Amino acid sequence: MQHLQQLVIEAIETSQFPETPSNLYDPIRYILTLGGKRVRPVLTLMAAELFGMQEMDEIIPAAKAVEFFHNFSLIHDDLMDKAPLRRGKTTVHEKWDANIAILSGDGLLVKAYEEISKCNPIYLPATLKILSKVAMEVCEGQQLDMDYESRDSLTMPEYLEMIRLKTSVLLGGALQLGAILSGADEQQQQLIYDFGENVGLAFQLQDDILDAYGDPDTFGKIVGGDIMINKKTFLLVKLMAVISDDDKTVLQGLLDTSIETAPSKVTDMLALYEKYEIKIAADELKDIYTQRAFEKMEALNVPNDRKEALLVLANNLLVRQQ
Ligand code: IPE
Ligand code: IPE
Ligand code: MG
Ligand code: MG
Ligand code: MG
Repeated sequence: MQHLQQLVIEAIETSQFPETPSNLYDPIRYILTLGGKRVRPVLTLMAAELFGMQEMDEIIPAAKAVEFFHNFSLIHDDLMDKAPLRRGKTTVHEKWDANIAILSGDGLLVKAYEEISKCNPIYLPATLKILSKVAMEVCEGQQLDMDYESRDSLTMPEYLEMIRLKTSVLLGGALQLGAILSGADEQQQQLIYDFGENVGLAFQLQDDILDAYGDPDTFGKIVGGDIMINKKTFLLVKLMAVISDDDKTVLQGLLDTSIETAPSKVTDMLALYEKYEIKIAADELKDIYTQRAFEKMEALNVPNDRKEALLVLANNLLVRQQ
């Protein structure tokens, strides 16, 4: 796993882009060298290994495509979420401006397709189809995420479908690409995709938890950022579902204030989460999805010892602190 991560980091950080126009390529270089966990490209390589592929050079273009796509989505996501910090550094739209964030993000999306086009031509139709499917679904999820910010109420199934689209499908797709490129059959591809989708749901729940409870020194994003913009996270959707009528008024008051005029917005919201044990509910749901992921992995028809690395990674992602 560490070996695969090293391969991925090297492949990404040695990617070459033209010098000019610098306002197009500098932000691309910037976001790609900010680090991050590199989880998705590692998943692509790990899925390939799972299905017996040993030639990692054949998988690297797909792994890069997935990470390029992810970084494109982060540049645009930070603009849409008005986030000032990413991976501990200033976000692209803050360091440059919104127009530059839009275009350099678009450029990175094009580069993702350029990378996937380098994969084994036998599998190109299949890999293009999966990348395009999950890429479009991520856009759908992002649009729902935006639409839901201003909605007065949101059901838990609506929330779960939104995070499935914006986050989970890319983890599933990253794994499926690795499976396709190692010649896995469609049934096995579906199982590894489903494993990824369930890990992805738990992953986004942990993301929502960290946004409220992360350690500001290590988190790399603004703690409380979701609360500040009334983002419909699991925490808020769950709170809205269980809150008493009296506290509903308090909650509405908080949602109607902005952090500029009410500096205690975040701590007041955290107090409500505490009162209704919302974090406990989030952890419980995370465990349910992890369990489902493990069931998918169990059903996979490969030797058990080869499954170990992915199971360990899935477990680590659930307790990740950044
Ligand atoms: C952040 O993804 C966006 C989500 C889908 C939650 P990561 O938490 O994988 O971000 P990096 O790539 O490690 O920075
Ligand atoms: C991320 O959701 C989804 C995508 C980037 C597609 P978030 O908005 O929660 O991700 P972070 O918390 O900013 O990384
Ligand atoms: Mg965001
Ligand atoms: Mg977002
Ligand atoms: Mg988040």
